[in-house]
Amino acid sequence: MTTLSDLLQPVELDLETLLTDLRSLIGAGHPILQAAAEHLFSAGGKRLRPGIVLLISRSLSSNGELSSKHRKLAQITEMIHTASLVHDDVVDEAATRRGVKTVHNLFDPRVAVLAGDFLFAQASWHLANLDNLEVVKLLSRVIMDLADGEIKQGLYKYKAAQSFDIYLEKSYCKTASLIANSSQAVGVLSDIDTDNLKLLHRFGKKLGLAFQVVDDILDFTGDDKQLGKPTASDMASGYLTAPVLYALEENPSLSLMIEREFSAPQDLQQALSIVRNSKAIERSRKLAEDFARDSRDSISWLPDSAAKSALLNLPDFVLSRLY
Ligand code: IPE
Ligand code: IPE
Ligand code: MG
Ligand code: MG
Repeated sequence: MTTLSDLLQPVELDLETLLTDLRSLIGAGHPILQAAAEHLFSAGGKRLRPGIVLLISRSLSSNGELSSKHRKLAQITEMIHTASLVHDDVVDEAATRRGVKTVHNLFDPRVAVLAGDFLFAQASWHLANLDNLEVVKLLSRVIMDLADGEIKQGLYKYKAAQSFDIYLEKSYCKTASLIANSSQAVGVLSDIDTDNLKLLHRFGKKLGLAFQVVDDILDFTGDDKQLGKPTASDMASGYLTAPVLYALEENPSLSLMIEREFSAPQDLQQALSIVRNSKAIERSRKLAEDFARDSRDSISWLPDSAAKSALLNLPDFVLSRLY
């Protein structure tokens, strides 16, 4: 099976320097905040988002070289992503991330809130220094969307009557916006035409949605070790994702348990088994596949290269996390 490292091969060297560069970028801050940020960077995530930025940059480059602005954009993308994870783990009270303790668990929630702010602030500073207003607009929109997504998700906790559109909007804000807007930003830096900018946005949006739906399925079907974070926790926390929303259509009795916040004994166990034994997982998988296909179709116009082939295979990689 193709692994993510296989796919990121065309930009592997670029990604290696990215981590070193990220460290020196955050270097000048407060020692504790620096240690907190460093903690998660060292634990090493999948580097999917900077990988995508670098692959698109390579496929649009006429001479095979990457400009320093393209590289900086990749770093900013990972910085924003990591900041959002630090804050998300506080909100979700999650104990582990990337296979290590979360920042608030290792230090304390105050440090985690500040460390997240610190990373967002650093990202904004480096973003402004790209001296490209269009890119600033795209990426600052992402930071708005991330906050918006977390807030939306909180508002709809344990609300069994929420629509599927709300879930998709929330998923766009939390996950797809960063991939979509950073993909488009590469196109802006590479000076491509408006139609193709829109297609890069679409590629990232659909890939991000596929990724989120897959992540939501894995919360029901995966294990903690495989994911480096606790599973079976979304629904227990009241976060109703695609599998639950589909299961609710099939089995309205689920809504009773959700609305009473799983307070009766066995509620959670029973609800988990209803979701796992319904058609919900299969339907969610189908949804992720549709997003993945759409994502792939959006970049057929890129000039042929190793980087393009990798990008074309990314949607399938996202789906392959399910198997
Ligand atoms: C986690 O993203 C947050 C979601 C959108 C589900 P990743 O799974 O890409 O996290 P890392 O960067 O690899 O840790
Ligand atoms: C991850 O959100 C953080 C963002 C995408 C902003 P979730 O809470 O849905 O994902 P995990 O399970 O913590 O990675
Ligand atoms: Mg979380
Ligand atoms: Mg969350």
